[in-house]
Amino acid sequence: MSFAGRRVSVKVPATSANLGPGFDTLGLALAMYDELTVTATDEKSVTVDVHGVGEGEVAVDETNLVASSAIATFAAVGQEAPGLHIEARNAIPHGRGLGSSGAAVVAGIAAAQGLLEGSVTFTEDLLLGIASELEGHPDNVAPALFGGLTIAWTSEEGPRHKKLMVHRGVSPLVFIPESTLSTRRARELQPASVPHADAVFNVSRSSLMVAAMLQSPELLFQATEDKLHQSYRAAAMPDTTETIALLRAHGYPAVVSGAGPSILVLCDGPGDRLDAARLVESGTATPWRAEMLAVDFKGATVVPIS
Ligand code: HSE
Repeated sequence: MSFAGRRVSVKVPATSANLGPGFDTLGLALAMYDELTVTATDEKSVTVDVHGVGEGEVAVDETNLVASSAIATFAAVGQEAPGLHIEARNAIPHGRGLGSSGAAVVAGIAAAQGLLEGSVTFTEDLLLGIASELEGHPDNVAPALFGGLTIAWTSEEGPRHKKLMVHRGVSPLVFIPESTLSTRRARELQPASVPHADAVFNVSRSSLMVAAMLQSPELLFQATEDKLHQSYRAAAMPDTTETIALLRAHGYPAVVSGAGPSILVLCDGPGDRLDAARLVESGTATPWRAEMLAVDFKGATVVPIS
């Protein structure tokens, strides 16, 4: 079947993974978006126009992550990929721990899903399976696909997720530095094993985190404690480590966002965010960009353009 001429509009949120104790498991979708228009062509080639973040930097051929993810999705469902023209308007910063690569992967998958509308039915498990395989871990792609707070895990049948709604008092604030850190480098800093007591510590905090996010935001400070990843990666992002210490010393539930170096503060009311932003502006030398972001509850959307 020829898909040439079909055109879809795709919108994918930023995400923050880990949320402190939930390493490779918890993720939160945030209202900052990459928006794309993807057109199927019969030219057997890929062209990409990027505006905003990544303009002049990311690949603009079939190795572009959105394009390669779309092509991989066609292959995963046994369909031949058409040529593609992608126009991307990106807002999610790259290499900062806000899920930009997961968003690109999900954008490609959502585009393929939209172009295949009527020919292939995608279940949520299939979407998450393709996305996790391409991204390498499920904790960013799950909230990027489905929105809200997600718990992601791997079963014998593949990756699975549970989407949860978040207490309306939970008010995310993100501090984004100019520096970047690759997830691969951050993952190399992880030890192969951890002390049993540290594992127990994180099981307790991660369980508490779900309760804090859903019904008890006043518990977010204790719930965001972690011993599995942040200390091992601290030396690779000293400004982040120092600023999180400052925020936590003042009672704000601050954590590394994903693999860093951005910071996520899960304030338990919108008013706290301004105070936290002022504290960081006056208390650190790093030029942080502060973003007060709502939780995104929809996840990726794809709509046909006629
Ligand atoms: N859980 C992953 C990590 C998230 O921390 O390595 C990367 O965005």
